[in-house]
Amino acid sequence: ARPVPRTDADPAWLPPEAFRALGSRRVLVCGTGDLTDTVHGEVDAACAEFGGTAVRAAVADHRPYDRPYDLVLRLDGTADGTAGGAEHRADDEAFTLVRERGRTTVSGAGGRGLLHGLFHVVRLGEAAFGADRPPVTHRPALATRMLNHWDNVAVHPVMGQVERGYAGGSLFWRDGRARGDLDRVRAYGRLLAACGINAVCVNNVNVHTTEAHLLTDRIGEVAALADALRPYGIRAHLSVTFAAPLVLGGLGTADPLDASVRAWWAAATARVYAAIPDFGGYVVKADSEGQPGPFAYGRSHADGANLLADALAPHGGTVYWRAFVYNHRQDWRDRTTDRARAAYDHFVPLDGAFRDNAVLQVKHGPVDFQPREPVSPVIGALPRTRIAVEVQATQEYTGQQRHVCALAPMWSEVLGFRPGAGASPTVGELARGGLVAVSNAGDDPYWTGHPLAQANLYAAGRLGARPGADPHAVLDEWIELTFTPDTCPDPERLRAGLRAVLRGSWRTYEKYTAPLGVGFMVQPGHHYGPSADGYEYSPWGTYHFADRDGVGVDRSRATGTGYAGQYAEPWATLYESPATCPDELLLFFHHVPYGHVLHSGTTVVQHIYDTHFEGVAEAAAARDIWTSLAGLMDGARHARVAERYEEQLRGAREWRDHINSYFFRKSGVPDARGRPIH
Ligand code: GCU
Repeated sequence: ARPVPRTDADPAWLPPEAFRALGSRRVLVCGTGDLTDTVHGEVDAACAEFGGTAVRAAVADHRPYDRPYDLVLRLDGTADGTAGGAEHRADDEAFTLVRERGRTTVSGAGGRGLLHGLFHVVRLGEAAFGADRPPVTHRPALATRMLNHWDNVAVHPVMGQVERGYAGGSLFWRDGRARGDLDRVRAYGRLLAACGINAVCVNNVNVHTTEAHLLTDRIGEVAALADALRPYGIRAHLSVTFAAPLVLGGLGTADPLDASVRAWWAAATARVYAAIPDFGGYVVKADSEGQPGPFAYGRSHADGANLLADALAPHGGTVYWRAFVYNHRQDWRDRTTDRARAAYDHFVPLDGAFRDNAVLQVKHGPVDFQPREPVSPVIGALPRTRIAVEVQATQEYTGQQRHVCALAPMWSEVLGFRPGAGASPTVGELARGGLVAVSNAGDDPYWTGHPLAQANLYAAGRLGARPGADPHAVLDEWIELTFTPDTCPDPERLRAGLRAVLRGSWRTYEKYTAPLGVGFMVQPGHHYGPSADGYEYSPWGTYHFADRDGVGVDRSRATGTGYAGQYAEPWATLYESPATCPDELLLFFHHVPYGHVLHSGTTVVQHIYDTHFEGVAEAAAARDIWTSLAGLMDGARHARVAERYEEQLRGAREWRDHINSYFFRKSGVPDARGRPIH
């Protein structure tokens, strides 16, 4: 049995108590191999804690079945999994659970399936040992559920150790070196496995000089991380620079069609696989925000992606090629360029040109992880390309883990969106390349800075495995595991309180920040706190065009940038006119007068005032609920969140006053209810 990793960090959604039901049973673990060893270790630890018994048998040994076990965890397939190559296959991760004649049996198709089955039993708790359950096979809907760590190896002068990190330092790197705390990495892998993550990219998509070397002379450090993550069924991936042949290989070019470049990548990749046989593949940010790419050689992004795909193919690896390509040196005076259009304009013409092991990794919205954006039109527009959808667990634009913003409801709206007409596939079904989340974890004792931000990490895995899941049910699962309410003096009050502060938190955040989908009224650079005109006259292409008469971006076909026309029907027509555009996206698609009447019946400017007052009131109410939960949970956790609520409330008031005053001064329209505006 592999011992359960020990750390001082918060147990998050795997506190010992979550294992009580399983740990007080007679459990048989059947099978051989690394992942079965992991499962056995988990069962051993749980039984040691709660008085159950754990027995291990080899697959072939049938005798133990005669004995009275409450739970049998059985590896059915021959492949335990860790030797199973570089590719994610949902079938290896399947398991079947049945309960009959007083015994629960979980059969894993592979080691990963067995591991997921174990954590399923943990989630079920006592319910796993109650009434009979007919056999049900569980299989993750998306084969890849990946975290991208925007972690730098060396501290970056502007971005620090973790770019857009709000949870302390990196779990992997510190001051230019591997951190070496592999127990912490193992514990992280364990948490990730328990929520369904099966892939981790260990460095920032912006690959600076030090980090470039992870691909070659520093691959051993990546291998150490891969070794620590493997027992939990997680494959390591690496962000690489497209200029690697130049900066690492000493070649005179990185042209994707150059024979020496292709040979260099093939050889470099073979060395990666010599060090990490189940290496998952590369993540690439090319021709984006200053990163090198194929455009420098007059080549397309399909040429670029295929270069790496070909190098990875002999080993079963995959290249995740990001679609986040746009002009970040735009002239704000130029009203014809629209950043929202860029990914579609660049990539749709390339549909069909990518290799099978190339995945196009697309941000869920067309701009950049704002609290409200329409779903990216790219996702439905490349039927012959494998698409992965990228979400941002790290809360760059959603309160930076100082504000509570549970993102599962937002992601679930995205995943349930149907880019085509009628019963056409959802985003979750179209995301054949997987779900990718930018990680929000760091070396903070609570992993995510704000203890409630753990819910976002958890939800990223769970929604990747089941994109159609009810987001509130996912949050409930997280609540049950993390807080084990039944062990507190008032379980129902704790549950109700936690639900109340989490479920609506994204909408609350949306209310007190930039209105009606317009986005980006944030402080430039670090992106925390309001600055209505912070990006208005900058080169980044994120404008709102507020003047004395109105606000918003005209993205219609008829009079605007034409972005609305990138959608298939019915969306193209729906978004085209302010009369049919949903209120929450109105200013994303249209420039309208302040007196424009929304579907809700109120004017745009009055909506701005109302939602900003409401948002602060909701944040204050959430803070009060939180205060009332003291005594129902661990005191340190309660105190950490209480402290962050004070900052959230201060921040929400700041947002309210800044945004309301801005629009009052622009429009001259007073608040119909005469509340204080400055
Ligand atoms: C945002 C973010 C950057 C990041 C980029 C990306 O623009 O602010 O820090 O590098 O997204 O996704 O590549």
